Amino acid sequence: MAPVAPFIGTPTSRVDGRAKVTGAAKYAAEFDAPDLVYGAVVTSTIANGRIARIDTSDALRVAGVLDVLTHENRPRMAKAASAYKDDVAPEKGTPLRPLYDDKVLFSGQPVALVLAEEWEAARFAASLVRVDYETEEFVTDLFAQRDNTFEADQPDKGRGSAGQAYAAASVRHAAEYFTPIEHHNPMELYGSTALWDGDGKLTVYDKTQGVQNVQRYLAGVFKLKADDVRVMDPYMGGGFGSGLRPQYQVVLAVLGALALKCSVRVVLTRRQMYAVGYRPATIARLELGASPHGMLDSVTQEAIAITSQHEDFARNDTAWSAQLYRSPHATYAHRLARLALPTPCDMRAPGATTGVYALEFAMDELAVALNIDPIELRLRCYSDRDQSEDLPYTSKKLRECYRQGAEAFGWDRRNPAPRAMRDGSELLGWGMATGVWEALQQEAAVRIVLTANGHAEVASAFSDIGTGTYTIMAQVAADLLGLPLDNVTVKLADSTLPQAPVEGGSWTAASVSHAIAKTAEGLRKELLRAAKTMPNSPLAKARLADTRFADGKLAHNNESDRAVPVADIMRHSDLDRVEQQGTNKPKESKSHARNTHSAVFAEVRVDEDLGVIRVTRVVSAVAAGRILNPKTAKSQIMGGVVGGIGMALHEETLVDHALGRMMNADIAEYHVPVNADVHDIDVIFVEEPDEMINPLGIKGVGEIGIVGVAAAIANAVYHATGKRVRDLPITLDKLLR
Ligand code: MOS
Repeated sequence: MAPVAPFIGTPTSRVDGRAKVTGAAKYAAEFDAPDLVYGAVVTSTIANGRIARIDTSDALRVAGVLDVLTHENRPRMAKAASAYKDDVAPEKGTPLRPLYDDKVLFSGQPVALVLAEEWEAARFAASLVRVDYETEEFVTDLFAQRDNTFEADQPDKGRGSAGQAYAAASVRHAAEYFTPIEHHNPMELYGSTALWDGDGKLTVYDKTQGVQNVQRYLAGVFKLKADDVRVMDPYMGGGFGSGLRPQYQVVLAVLGALALKCSVRVVLTRRQMYAVGYRPATIARLELGASPHGMLDSVTQEAIAITSQHEDFARNDTAWSAQLYRSPHATYAHRLARLALPTPCDMRAPGATTGVYALEFAMDELAVALNIDPIELRLRCYSDRDQSEDLPYTSKKLRECYRQGAEAFGWDRRNPAPRAMRDGSELLGWGMATGVWEALQQEAAVRIVLTANGHAEVASAFSDIGTGTYTIMAQVAADLLGLPLDNVTVKLADSTLPQAPVEGGSWTAASVSHAIAKTAEGLRKELLRAAKTMPNSPLAKARLADTRFADGKLAHNNESDRAVPVADIMRHSDLDRVEQQGTNKPKESKSHARNTHSAVFAEVRVDEDLGVIRVTRVVSAVAAGRILNPKTAKSQIMGGVVGGIGMALHEETLVDHALGRMMNADIAEYHVPVNADVHDIDVIFVEEPDEMINPLGIKGVGEIGIVGVAAAIANAVYHATGKRVRDLPITLDKLLR
């Protein structure tokens, strides 16, 4: 790989920032068409059963209403459940098939779509659709179902005999930890605009993290030719995983467009979004056995998570304790409880956010039982090998995270006794936790068009879910093509662009950067070949590996005077543009573990009389390989920390188990942190050179920022108050109980 500079590694403002703040950036529900039709969704009010009768006559009488679609009169859709399986669908089960038949599997399931000339008419008419149901029994309470679970598919390899080791351990800690259902609550409502291009052709603007995933899905569900449906989403107002799978409104928008042969927009209400996907509630039981010196003898983690009646959604909650700490004995179990709720979905660091919360809370309790500093305990159990697979890491600078994080936080000034630190009427608490996530990479393609005037267009079907993908793509391309940042234009989130997976798993930065590198190399090869044909070419004998693009020139790596302006090469060969498309297939290697890590430190202030908790300081020290853009990367970590504050203190979706319905389904009643809840957040990126993971040493930072935060805060609350609140969120009533 050619040397990189000056954009990679430089804090860089978002290249799409101006478009976003001026409103020039258009979101899925902002694309327009003449005679656009508006769809309003009617959702089920029962949690389980079937639709006995739907009466749409009153709705149809509303002025401006064009049609009401139900399972009885909708256009044709694929029968086979397999046609509804998108790239991210759980392996087992049948995905939701919106308006497919009379079955109701959860409250909030779409049962009718009202199509009208105006949104207001559609919405009013939707209130007039009368649905009679035959109701069947159901369970929506995890605790009511906990003795009726089944095994999920991802058991982590255990080792030794944890039961015996635990029984024999001199210091033991066992407890149960609970995390509730959480919703993503992105600012942008779930919405889709299906533009009718005539002749059965559709252009669909959809709020999604994967335009090609949605494109394939729509083509399959509606048996459309691949060329007849194009999916785009140039900007997203937050995803957090909620847009990895196709959301049902995109099906309804296309149904409406096919039924009326016109353009249709369907936007869900905030309330309706609560029946689309969520982080599943979990119960985790942890058992830790240790020697008096703080060496772990045994780790047991048993997780129960919830899933729907129709799909087995599972993310691995136990993988993190399986790999993180040295312990000769370990055992894991992972089970699912089937409830009459929508299928859960990925939400920022799925599995880790919940699983590491339980692990790191339990480690803090063990540290107290051992009378050892919590960082010291983690250092004594530190492992340079993935304990689950017994593999070395490509890199792991977690020790440095602990060190730098502790120093920045001032950890050495901590009095370890609970309730020992005070500030006026407030109890002060300091807690810490470890974070861990995967460093993944996926196959992806990029097309670059370089024009003779020194401009490059870089295109890939990836999305930018708000993380900064436009910006890092421009930075990487500018460096590898030797161009100013402003000379690079990035195009993405269009299903007709070169192949890319969904934007998720924190894999986009590494995947797209190496696809750009591969493609830039293709361009270099093509231009070097052309340069060699020039008279007296200084590059006549240069090998590809000896060259790079720099300052608009194709240059020799070592001898800077051997360089030819790219414009001259193109002029000589009569080219006004060169175009290359390259695919990067990351090497499959089972020889090393690939992870990002963090050490999170939190300070809380707790009002002793009222139980009000404020998170006044967080330090997050992150080791995530090469940081492409310290500015947007820092924003990712800060966003993750804010999510962690929400998880610790605010967020919980409550289900009315009599009705089987999410009760607090709006952001007045579902609390997320607001400005007043967020104070100092200090982000440290620990140097972590990694030449093994991939040529540019990129690991990705989209998810690591949230992992461990809730545990650090919960541990700080214990330190402040002496009280362990093991079920999230830590609300003041639990603290005063
Ligand atoms: Mo992320 S939960 O893979 O969008």
